[in-house]
Amino acid sequence: MHMHKFEKIWLIFGFGALLVFLTVIGVSAFYLGNQPPSCLATIDPEKVDTTAPFNEPGLKKVEGKEWDYELVFVASAFSYSPARVEVPLGAKVKVIATSKDVMHGFQAAGTNVNMMLEPGYISEVVTTFKNPGEFLIVCNEYCGVGHHMMHSMIEVVE
Ligand code: CUA
Repeated sequence: MHMHKFEKIWLIFGFGALLVFLTVIGVSAFYLGNQPPSCLATIDPEKVDTTAPFNEPGLKKVEGKEWDYELVFVASAFSYSPARVEVPLGAKVKVIATSKDVMHGFQAAGTNVNMMLEPGYISEVVTTFKNPGEFLIVCNEYCGVGHHMMHSMIEVVE
């Protein structure tokens, strides 16, 4: 069937408009919907073990920053790495964490640390450990059969 010239033009125009519309929707959905507000940095969840700083979980002294230490955690079903870590009393610490698989929680009882760890994103919080003792880290986001067993321990020592 032969298509009228004007019909063809309108068809192309229609598809063009649809494409622009879908692009706008897609871009705004990406910027507004998919990004958790507290997590700005992204990471490939498949490459957590080989991506700094997550290739070396644990406590590290840092220089020239607003905090004295960085404490790196990797969460995966159903554990945290490290499973236990010592932190000096009074240290200003930036806690940096991510998940290798599904969404996990990260709440250190008795502190103001309470984060959501989403695969693909890096969660961070700066805190000062003012009280000595043991602070249990628990997963407060349901993540599967081993959810209730998922924990770590921060020991604040003098
Ligand atoms: Cu991890 Cu619940």
